[in-house]
Amino acid sequence: MSQPRHNRRIGWSLMVLAVVVAIVLLTDGCATTTKHQWLNFFFDGVPGGNQGTNAAAGGPATNAIAGDENEPVRRPAQPPPQPAVFSHPPYLEGKCAVCHESLYGETMKKFPDACFACHKDFLTGNKVKHQPVEDGECASCHSPHDSLNTNLLVKTGNTLCLTCHDDPLVGAKFKHEAVELGDCADCHTPHASNFKGLLQKSVKNTCASCHADIVAKKKDVHQPVDDGDCLACHKPHASANKNLLVKGSEALCWDCHDNFLEKAKFTHDVVDDCTSCHDPHHSDNNALLKKAVPALCLDCHDQKDLAAVKGHAGMGDKSCTDCHDPHVGTDVNLLKPSAKSK
Ligand code: HEC
Ligand code: HEC
Ligand code: HEC
Ligand code: HEC
Ligand code: HEC
Ligand code: HEC
Ligand code: HEC
Ligand code: HEC
Ligand code: HEC
Ligand code: HEC
Ligand code: HEC
Repeated sequence: MSQPRHNRRIGWSLMVLAVVVAIVLLTDGCATTTKHQWLNFFFDGVPGGNQGTNAAAGGPATNAIAGDENEPVRRPAQPPPQPAVFSHPPYLEGKCAVCHESLYGETMKKFPDACFACHKDFLTGNKVKHQPVEDGECASCHSPHDSLNTNLLVKTGNTLCLTCHDDPLVGAKFKHEAVELGDCADCHTPHASNFKGLLQKSVKNTCASCHADIVAKKKDVHQPVDDGDCLACHKPHASANKNLLVKGSEALCWDCHDNFLEKAKFTHDVVDDCTSCHDPHHSDNNALLKKAVPALCLDCHDQKDLAAVKGHAGMGDKSCTDCHDPHVGTDVNLLKPSAKSK
């Protein structure tokens, strides 16, 4: 996929053509006209026939080859139906020299500069540039002469991207439906962008275009969500963990929070499963709680049992978390120091 390879290929093709030209010129009969034709072919325009319509099959190269009468042409009994071909105007108009330098040595003009003589320079001013585009390897994705596909593409859809990139879903346990059923181009742009990873929009806006509910402001928003840093917790394409998480939920939280379980003497039975009590994105309650205390606690603890507990006698309208730590403790009842002495 490197430009040198293209140059070499063209170099070879053109050199082979040059040798053919030389042989033809040395053969009796067709000296001047043939010479004129070949030079025309490379530098002036397209000799003869059926140019001028962008739907016509074949194009200049076909004309040139058809001109070589030493080569018997095999034709099928029924000519195959000709699909519509989009020809690149400079090719169709025989402006070969806008891209081809000369027959010898370095045969191509410098890309992308030569392309930007006619096309808007989409690299300048963008922070992130797709490497093959920056390197001028336009021909790894575009057919410079003509193509059956729109935008002169050599391949369409995800298959174009997967010629150079590993399929991000292969071998993955959990796959993002957006990648599985959608297009790489739903989130990425092929040439250049101002966002990391060639995204069309910021990460937050990329995700928000389909998950608006998660980005929506509510009362209490988890700071990394507020910052639009979805990728601190999620992989964009696929993951070994449920919910596309970069790590299993508890380990994930320790990426940013001090691990209060490590040194704990006693832990709340359910504390490993942080999301049984916390919403990772946002909440109407404080501390990102899925429900407010005591409703949260009463989801798992029976009110009748609690009423029978000696320490609860006369607790009044104190909150559970006035006396208990929800995560860890120095005793089995997870009592806060202030609640213990009583
Ligand atoms: C917009 C730029 C551009 C124009 C215009 C253009 N070419 Fe090319 N041409 C290329 C590139 C790039 C390649 C290398 C393609 C590749 O590596 O796949 C190429 C390859 C070729 C080759 C090598 C064989 C092949 O197809 O890979 C020949 C021969 C050739 N061009 C002839 C011509 C002729 C004749 C014209 C004018 C009628 C022309 N080109 C116009 C860019 C152009
Ligand atoms: C990695 C593949 C890839 C490479 C490399 C690439 N393109 Fe494209 N290009 C595309 C795709 C895909 C489209 C289709 C339109 C879109 O999705 O934006 C496109 C569209 C275009 C278009 C038409 C639409 C537009 O944006 O104006 C032009 C012109 C173009 N490319 C020029 C170039 C030039 C010049 C180069 C080399 C400097 C280049 N491309 C390199 C993939 C590529
Ligand atoms: C001499 C001027 C010229 C040069 C040089 C040129 N192009 Fe074009 N190109 C055109 C014109 C004119 C069109 C058709 C009008 C349009 O869609 O912009 C076109 C169309 C295209 C398209 C298809 C756009 C579509 O809408 O389908 C692509 C892709 C493209 N060019 C890529 C390239 C690449 C890659 C190069 C360099 C290797 C290049 N062009 C060099 C003039 C040029
Ligand atoms: C001709 C080969 C080629 C094709 C085709 C190609 N890429 Fe790339 N892409 C590369 C190379 C090389 C890099 C830079 C090295 C890397 O990150 O793997 C790259 C990098 C990327 C990056 C990371 C950019 C960054 O700076 O973070 C993304 C995203 C990407 N490509 C997406 C795509 C998409 C989407 C397509 C299809 C439209 C595509 N690529 C087609 C070769 C290609
Ligand atoms: C739902 C949106 C989405 C879709 C669809 C998508 N990507 Fe991505 N991709 C991302 C995001 C987000 C990043 C990370 C960008 C960052 O680092 O900020 C990324 C990063 C990348 C990267 C660079 C980092 C890496 O993982 O190597 C490549 C290459 C890439 N994507 C290729 C692809 C290809 C190929 C496809 C299609 C098969 C695709 N993506 C589909 C969102 C998407
Ligand atoms: C083009 C639409 C689209 C975009 C963009 C998109 N997603 Fe999704 N996402 C989906 C669909 C569809 C599903 C599956 C249905 C659902 O769970 O809503 C999904 C599911 C998910 C899931 C749950 C996965 C599971 O295993 O249940 C997570 C997590 C997720 N997306 C995160 C993200 C992140 C992070 C971003 C931005 C990088 C993003 N999505 C961008 C469409 C999208
Ligand atoms: C602090 C880590 C973290 C951040 C940041 C984060 N998420 Fe999540 N996300 C999670 C966890 C953990 C789950 C699993 C929830 C569960 O198990 O109940 C999840 C689940 C999801 C789901 C699937 C379940 C659902 O609620 O629909 C989607 C979609 C999702 N996140 C999208 C996003 C988007 C979009 C962003 C960025 C705006 C984002 N997340 C930021 C941790 C995070
Ligand atoms: C990318 C870093 C990051 C990750 C990962 C992360 N957090 Fe946070 N979290 C923060 C920041 C920053 C704050 C705000 C500052 C603070 O209170 O420490 C915060 C605050 C909180 C708060 C207090 C919110 C409030 O309003 O008082 C809770 C609860 C919380 N996080 C739970 C979790 C849980 C549960 C996980 C794992 C699912 C997690 N966090 C993963 C960065 C992170
Ligand atoms: C049984 C429910 C429950 C579970 C499970 C739980 N928490 Fe909490 N968490 C709470 C409650 C209740 C608060 C509020 C404490 C308060 O208001 O004093 C809280 C507060 C927090 C805070 C805010 C700062 C602080 O310590 O007061 C963070 C951060 C936090 N939890 C992280 C986590 C992490 C990480 C996990 C998983 C390892 C987790 N929580 C599991 C109930 C729980
Ligand atoms: C998701 C379910 C769940 C939630 C929510 C929950 N707990 Fe628990 N809690 C348990 C389980 C399971 C035990 C282990 C002992 C048991 O079965 O009662 C436990 C044990 C305890 C213990 C220690 C008693 C012992 O015998 O080990 C205390 C104190 C406690 N919880 C207080 C609370 C408080 C206060 C809240 C609300 C902030 C709360 N719990 C929320 C499930 C939960
Ligand atoms: C005034 C302080 C205080 C408040 C408020 C309080 N507790 Fe307790 N709780 C205690 C004490 C002290 C114990 C240990 C009592 C004992 O061993 O007799 C205890 C024990 C427990 C136990 C263990 C019971 C057992 O069978 O071993 C659970 C579960 C519990 N509390 C849950 C809660 C919940 C849920 C709330 C809120 C609805 C709550 N507590 C409010 C002080 C309190």
